[in-house]
Amino acid sequence: MTPPIVAVIGGGQLARMMAPAATALGITLRVLVESDQAAAAASSHEAVIGLPTDPDAVARLLAAPHPDVVTWEHEHIPAEVVEACEAAGVPARPGLGALRFAQDKIDMRARMDELGLPNPAWRQVSTASDLEAFLAEHGTAVLKTARGGYDGKGVRVVSSAAQARDWLDAAANGGPRLLVEAKVPFTRELAAQVARRPSGETRTWPVVESIQRDGVCSEVTAPAPGLSAERSAQARAIAERIATELDVTGVLAVELFETDAGLVVNELAMRPHNSGHWTIDGAVTSQFEQHLRAVLDLPLGDTAPLAPWTVMANVLGGTRASLGEALGEVADPGAKIHLYGKGVRPGRKVGHVTVTGADARETYDRAVAAAAIVRDGGAA
Ligand SMILES: Nc1ncnc2c1ncn2[C@@H]1O[C@H](COP(=O)(O)OP(=O)(O)OP(=O)(O)O)[C@@H](O)[C@H]1O
Ligand SMILES: [Mg+2]
Repeated sequence: MTPPIVAVIGGGQLARMMAPAATALGITLRVLVESDQAAAAASSHEAVIGLPTDPDAVARLLAAPHPDVVTWEHEHIPAEVVEACEAAGVPARPGLGALRFAQDKIDMRARMDELGLPNPAWRQVSTASDLEAFLAEHGTAVLKTARGGYDGKGVRVVSSAAQARDWLDAAANGGPRLLVEAKVPFTRELAAQVARRPSGETRTWPVVESIQRDGVCSEVTAPAPGLSAERSAQARAIAERIATELDVTGVLAVELFETDAGLVVNELAMRPHNSGHWTIDGAVTSQFEQHLRAVLDLPLGDTAPLAPWTVMANVLGGTRASLGEALGEVADPGAKIHLYGKGVRPGRKVGHVTVTGADARETYDRAVAAAAIVRDGGAA
C-alpha cells in the first residue's frame, strides 16, 4: 500500500499540529493554506496556496496523486467545497451531513432537542419583538449568530433588543441568522472529546475543564478537577451519542456547561479543538494523531492520560514582536512549549504551554506562569 495522503482545508495552528503526527505515521499531509505565511505552510509536507472558496485551489489540493481523504481544520467550509471533494471521488470527513451541525448553531440546537440532549431554552430570532418576547420570559440572554462565530465573536449578552439592533439589521439584510439562548448559570465549562471512525468505533478522552476569558479559551485542565464519576460518564456518553447519531468522522469536541442541576450542551466542533491540545503531551494518543487515524478509518489509539494532571495554558498575543526569544526565558524544564509561527497581535492565539504533574494546583500554576513568560516575559 502506498502511504496515505490526507488533504486538509485550512492552514492555521490546528493543521500545523497535525503535521508531527502525520510524519510519525508516515502519512503525507497536504494542506490548503491561505498564504505562504500561514501557520501550517512550513510544517506541512505539501502546502497548496489558495482559499477554500477558490475552486481552482481546491482542485489543486485534490489533484493526482489523489488524497485518500479530505478533512478540515475549521468549520467555515462552504457546502459546495465539500460536495466538490466528494464529486472528485475523495471522501470528505466529517461529511456535510455532520458538519452542518458544527457550522450552524440553529441546526445544532434543533438537533440536540430532537435527540433529547440537554439544551438551554433557545429560539431563532428574526425581529426585535421575537427577541423582546424571549427576554421577557428568560431575562438577560445570550444572542448568537448561527454561523461564522469563533473565539466569542458572534456571541453577545443582551438584556434588551436595542442592544442587538445592528445584528438584527444585518440578519434582515442577508447577514447570518440569529438565535437567542437563556443565559446558563454554569459553575464551570467542560469539554468532552471523542473520535469516531467511519466503521463506527469511538473513543473518548477524559473530560476536561476549560476556562474562558473574554470569550476565549485560556486554560484547560485534564481531567476536570472534582468532576464526579457520574457526570464524567454522562459527558462522555453525550459526546459518543452525538458522534454516532450525527455520523461524525474524525474528532468531535462537545463544549458543555456544568450547572448545579447537571450538564448542558454549549456547542460542537468537528475537528481537533483547543480543549484537546493537552493530549499532545498528556495522553497516549493526541487528538491530532487520532483525527488522522479516524478520518483514514484506521484503528483508534488509546486515550488514557499519561499523568494524574495535565494543564494547557494558551499564549494569547502580548507585547513581544516575535516569540522566538521566549524560548530562552522559560526555565521550567517540564513546560512543553508550542508556538504556532503566527504574527503576534493582542489576544491572538499564538501558542500554548502544557505541563503534566501529580498535583492539580501546582501543575496549573506552572503552566500559567510559563505561558505568561512566553507571552511577554511577565507575570500572568
Ligand atoms: N447560553 C449561554 N449561557 C451562558 N454563557 C454562554 C452561553 N453561550 C455561550 N456562553 C459563553 O460564551 C462563550 C462563547 O460561546 P460559544 O462557545 O457559543 O461561541 P464561539 O465563539 O462559537 O466559541 P469558540 O470560542 O469556542 O469558538 C462560551 O464559552 C461561554 O463562556
Ligand atoms: Mg465555544
